[in-house]
Amino acid sequence: MFNELSAPGQDPILALTVAFREDPRPEKIDLGIGVYRNSDGETPVMQAVRQAAIELAETQPTKSYVGLAGDERFNQSMTDLLLEGTAGYGRSAAVQTPGASGALRMLAELIATARPGATVWISRPSYVNHRPVMESAGLAVREYPYFNTDTKQVDEQAMLAQIAQLGPNDVLLLHGCCHNPTGGDISAESWQRITELALERGFLPFVDIAYQGFGDGLLADAGGVRRLADAVPEMVIATSCSKNFGLYRERTGAAIVIGESATAAGKAKAHIQRLARGTYTMPPDHGAAIVARILNDHSLRELWEDELTSMNERINHLRAELVRQFRAAAQSERFDYFGEHRGMFSVTGLSPEQLAQLKADHGIYVVDGGRVNVAGLSESAIPRVVEGFLAVGA
Ligand code: LMR
Repeated sequence: MFNELSAPGQDPILALTVAFREDPRPEKIDLGIGVYRNSDGETPVMQAVRQAAIELAETQPTKSYVGLAGDERFNQSMTDLLLEGTAGYGRSAAVQTPGASGALRMLAELIATARPGATVWISRPSYVNHRPVMESAGLAVREYPYFNTDTKQVDEQAMLAQIAQLGPNDVLLLHGCCHNPTGGDISAESWQRITELALERGFLPFVDIAYQGFGDGLLADAGGVRRLADAVPEMVIATSCSKNFGLYRERTGAAIVIGESATAAGKAKAHIQRLARGTYTMPPDHGAAIVARILNDHSLRELWEDELTSMNERINHLRAELVRQFRAAAQSERFDYFGEHRGMFSVTGLSPEQLAQLKADHGIYVVDGGRVNVAGLSESAIPRVVEGFLAVGA
């Protein structure tokens, strides 16, 4: 049976991680997968997470099953973190999922159940897993223009012109903040216009927010989501604790639905639970139990927010350093975009040939499409990155 299978396409991010691991050169630099690293090149367990995990190990009474929706205290806390105080808050329901990819898949399946034949519009470019996840759920996928690789800015006019054509059979997938892969975020004015268009045209907003706290702060990063949640009758949100709690391998995320009424949101939640039962049954508990503990304990929460702020400041410092060192070495401001982008990533516009050369000649690993993980850099690697980029003609 398996003989007849053709080789599946590889995920470019995960394939790059494997290639990097196998490269024996000690001076190699990984700018691939989206993980935060400190100045020692490590991705440490956050102190708040470690403390909560220790408390959990000492006090958790059982490892028995939790339930199809996962930890309800976690679900409530994640909803609070994003939506508290918005008009949609009281009409929302949440289900814990295995990471944000789990949330994306459950929400895609929910949409396919409620509206078979719906088209999901993703940004060009978008997170590499958006298209496969949506298509796996049987949804059609199309792209809206998003990023201008020459200016390295969001092309808001082209984006809005396409969005203005969408209708009730369409789903608009937006990145809540810290756009992956480009680093270019939607302005407050465009969020407002998208909100008006959603009301006028009747499409469903679907926000993927995986980097809350990595842009301009926890509340500011939720600004677009909150604007929509204040106005639209229905929307869905996929959220993640991989980056802002550093819980990558614990697969901790949530799917949130805002319905026209609390009853409608409850119905959607029941469907997601049924869909979960048909795939993984229940999400893993450990990460969610840690997050619920942190968000509901004053001192743990304060510690977490301080650590998150430090990570954010470090990323912004690395961005400023890239700008400074590129300006000095290239005698040009053409790399200033590193300072304008938000979050972990920036799209550099490097060609496949330049990326191959960077890898072969300089041991610098950048994802196909030219995405650089700024948050994975160490200060000491910046001069070599600058040198490598200029050597390949960036
Ligand atoms: C990334 O974009 O590098 C991360 O979100 C990892 C992933 O799941 O692809």
